[in-house]
Amino acid sequence: MELCSMTGLKGTIRVPGDKSISHRCVMFGSIANGTTEIHNFLEGADCLATIRCFQRLGIDVEKKENTILVHGKGLHGLSAPTDILDVGNSGTTTRLISGILAGQPFDSKLSGDASLNSRPMKRIIDPLTKMGAHISSILRNGCAPLYITPGSLHGIHYNSPVASAQVKSCLLLAGLYADGETSVTEPSLSRNHTELMLKEFGADIRSTHTIGSTETTAVIKPCEELYGQKIRVPGDISSAAYFIAAGLIVPDSEILIKNVGINPTRAGILKVCEDMGGDISLLNERTEGGEKMADILVRTSQLHGITIEGDIIPTLIDEIPIIAVMAAVAEGTTVIKDAAELKVKETDRIETVTDNLKAMGCMVTPTSDGMVITGGRPLKGASIHTLLDHRIAMAFSIAALVAEGRTKILDSKCIDVSYPDFYDTFEALL
Ligand code: S3P
Repeated sequence: MELCSMTGLKGTIRVPGDKSISHRCVMFGSIANGTTEIHNFLEGADCLATIRCFQRLGIDVEKKENTILVHGKGLHGLSAPTDILDVGNSGTTTRLISGILAGQPFDSKLSGDASLNSRPMKRIIDPLTKMGAHISSILRNGCAPLYITPGSLHGIHYNSPVASAQVKSCLLLAGLYADGETSVTEPSLSRNHTELMLKEFGADIRSTHTIGSTETTAVIKPCEELYGQKIRVPGDISSAAYFIAAGLIVPDSEILIKNVGINPTRAGILKVCEDMGGDISLLNERTEGGEKMADILVRTSQLHGITIEGDIIPTLIDEIPIIAVMAAVAEGTTVIKDAAELKVKETDRIETVTDNLKAMGCMVTPTSDGMVITGGRPLKGASIHTLLDHRIAMAFSIAALVAEGRTKILDSKCIDVSYPDFYDTFEALL
């Protein structure tokens, strides 16, 4: 894809359904009794991989007009897959489904693409093994492909060294099949969609906060059954983030983004935009199915650099590539710290973000847990090496709009992972 600078992005848009929530609807719907009806499901490659995996496990998933129907078979209704489960590029599919598969009376194997098969899985293998699961890395390198065979699961308490919703959710799902209570403490709260949605499905699950600390604990008890739900998936704030940034940095712009999920465990980007001096407001705030939503209005603003660190990081971890682009345009220095998790995303995003910002003429230094960006110098068009990372492709498409000359986004098709209509949404603002 080739892009060049623009001004005056104006209009009202909608972004696709939330990726994290879409995955969970299919997973929880599959192990619930009855049908789960999903509206505004994200038909991106990652969530389609989740659907394919559950179809391989014997679940009937139908599309009726714009609705996805998951015909659940209950906690013990999955059947042995006849083939390896292909998780594609999706870390969420891999880690969450592993928790479910650890509790099944049959063998399964999971594998994904080259990026997925190089991401760390020891972070789920170790605690699942403590629960009594039989799960191994087939190549013994701590990564997928994974092999899971039947084990009898015990409830444990796990102190997670990382704030990761994927690790937490994996263990909570395994906890549904354990012989007692399972609890997971994380250093600071990661996205809590699993806790909110499993409760709606009828699970006995609660969260507690350690007073005087950022630690939180999610606790689940095994249950007899879950019940199919009707769910409207909110717009994905991680997808909205590109248009929030575009509205703030492209001159003479005003963009209204309708129906965006603003769950506080995901909404760190909103605070960052405000702290950088962005003109951003939330309209029509409401709660649906336990999830907060709003319409987001942004207008072109002069941004300034800030420091982003500590327990806000898990609430904006996927937005750091686009935050880095805003920082490159902002006056002054932005420091991003405590974000070493960036190294184990679809690419090492400390490297992919800083390499591509440098290619555009930005002064940026990678650090062991983030980066330091000195903004304000004009960006210039460049060839962007996405390394097939959807968020790098989208973040640098926005950078291209404020760069001198043409920018080429290499392998931009990878955007299909989370936002197949990304460039069409753009068109609506011209
Ligand atoms: C996700 C959790 C986050 C996030 C990912 C989706 C989820 O990963 O980066 O895109 O849906 O649970 P970690 O849990 O590894 O931080």
